[in-house]
Amino acid sequence: MSQHTSTKQITNTELLAMKARDEKIVSLTAYDASFAHILDTAGVDMILVGDSLGMVVQGQNSTVPVTVDEMAYHSKIVSRGIERALLVTDMPFMSYPNPDEAVKNAGVLMQQGHAHMVKLEGGQKVLDSVQHIVNQGIPVCGHLGLLPQSVNQLGGYRVQGKDDAQANIIIEDAKCLQQAGASAIVVECIPSTLAKKITAVVDIPIIGIGAGVDCDGQVLVSYDMLDITFGKRPKFSKNFMLEAGNIADAVSAYVSAVKNKTFPAKTHSF
Ligand code: KIV
Repeated sequence: MSQHTSTKQITNTELLAMKARDEKIVSLTAYDASFAHILDTAGVDMILVGDSLGMVVQGQNSTVPVTVDEMAYHSKIVSRGIERALLVTDMPFMSYPNPDEAVKNAGVLMQQGHAHMVKLEGGQKVLDSVQHIVNQGIPVCGHLGLLPQSVNQLGGYRVQGKDDAQANIIIEDAKCLQQAGASAIVVECIPSTLAKKITAVVDIPIIGIGAGVDCDGQVLVSYDMLDITFGKRPKFSKNFMLEAGNIADAVSAYVSAVKNKTFPAKTHSF
């Protein structure tokens, strides 16, 4: 197992520097201290406490029921396993319906969950909330493309941005998020050509999931790449346990594959 030797804390400015020097940013989700420690030791740069915990940990059929208190709890226990990685915590469904609520709940995730950055879904519709959170000194990660919290509106988990009109809205959303002060953006389930364009037109790091190899970094739900998730694994994920003897080796293989651009392959992209 290859272990990361430097324990210098990754910050939002370090993510920017990684984009500038064309070094891929590696991200995975974690929901507890033990997994977080394995990810951190293997050199994962950004650990995301995703609201995917509603599905892969709680066994619910979407992320919609997850609460701020649950996110704060999981973020707090993940923080205990981390020395180096940047800790990004999802703001769950209905925790940012207006700027004031958004700031209050982002504060809970920072103070009780020990997050370094919060992530929220949406583009121009959530700009006021993004600006308010950033104005309080809290770094924000945006999330565009497939927005799991809006699954009931989208009518299912589908690739987004396939036609020009949709694609242009996502590009505009990315520019607006940057303008509002976001430090990074996750793009989920969009064509790789669109993800490449977005990565080129904004200066902040673009972290892809089901968005092709040309993003500045990659994120996966750890339970998917470790083959723990029950049910069907998404096309954009890969089972890294197949060739690894243990979880730490599978995570190290993922870190290497992202850093040397062999993951995601065309088969994992749209
Ligand atoms: O909740 C989550 O795990 C996420 C990833 C899919 C990026 O937002």
